[in-house]
Amino acid sequence: MSAIVSVQRHLLETQRHHPTATGDLTALLWDLTLAFKLINAEVNKAGLVNLYGLDGDRNASGDDVTKLDRFAQDTIFRMMDHGGHLCCMASEEEREIIPIPAKYAKGKYVLSYDPLDGSSNIDANVSVGTIFAIHRRRTPEGTDGTEEDVLQSGRALVAAGYVIYGSSTMLVLSTGQRVDGFTLDPSVGEFLLSHPDIRIPKRGKIYSVNEGNQSFWRENTRRYVDWIKSPEAGPYKGRYIGSMIADVHRTLLYGGIFLYPRTFRHDPVKGECKLRLLYEAGPMGWIVERAGGVATTGDEPVADLVPTHLHDTCPVAIGSPDDVADYLAFYRGER
Ligand code: AHG
Ligand code: MN
Ligand code: MN
Repeated sequence: MSAIVSVQRHLLETQRHHPTATGDLTALLWDLTLAFKLINAEVNKAGLVNLYGLDGDRNASGDDVTKLDRFAQDTIFRMMDHGGHLCCMASEEEREIIPIPAKYAKGKYVLSYDPLDGSSNIDANVSVGTIFAIHRRRTPEGTDGTEEDVLQSGRALVAAGYVIYGSSTMLVLSTGQRVDGFTLDPSVGEFLLSHPDIRIPKRGKIYSVNEGNQSFWRENTRRYVDWIKSPEAGPYKGRYIGSMIADVHRTLLYGGIFLYPRTFRHDPVKGECKLRLLYEAGPMGWIVERAGGVATTGDEPVADLVPTHLHDTCPVAIGSPDDVADYLAFYRGER
């Protein structure tokens, strides 16, 4: 029988491998896991207390904000503003950076997050989740954090992860070396190590893309998706939940590819991208890379992109190395 390891124990063990670590990152992640438990409790009882439904507000990216989005946003802020570990935060739900209140100490890290990913299909009980990314600050310690601290590439991440609030709630986390998954035991309220050292399969048999956008893709993307459905490539299964967190989580465990390519619905030259670099594509791509997968925009690794604005978006192809290599061959016009 294998050992029972809580996320706290796991973080402490990881910290021991870094003799220079001060314990700040461990404490920060520890606080975050409590926020996740609170959000999980609310997501699970949302139907009962009629919390579902729109709040009548719009977030910085123009999406409708549901009440649970707001709850998740407020919970993470209220948990993380006073710990002394952060110099500022940034969220998909807030237009500007979120300062640490003047009365609290400013720490050496920055937290960027999507408080509730996939919330557009929440009324149908589809899995939703929280995505988080942690960078080390770049401005001098002790001062208020600025956009300079937030606008960093995936390469500079010190930790990232996500939580899926589903039939069972799972936290997937990396502090750089490996990726581990923890399942919440609701009876004791602890995340317990259930998926140590997750490695993505070299190739999968599932592709995941919103094919409703097909007529707005560039020709190369269309040809790739036609190919993957052909007898030559197959058999591949199509799976698209419409919650990035759930689609990428499945891709991480089973292998395959998740795509959200650029569409040309409104701007025929520049096109448009949906997924946010700081809160979605960056951290999810980084996790998949740490697990042996690939995350690319088509032109460059997602991790190389340095955001110039808080709500920048980018195209993504994330998944098993062999599957993403096939996509890139089509994207580059080599096939
Ligand atoms: P959010 O709920 O945080 O706004 O994110 C929704 C995102 C992502 O989760 C998902 O992959 C994508 O939107 C789905 O977009 P389409 O509905 O255009 O396929
Ligand atoms: Mn999202
Ligand atoms: Mn969201």
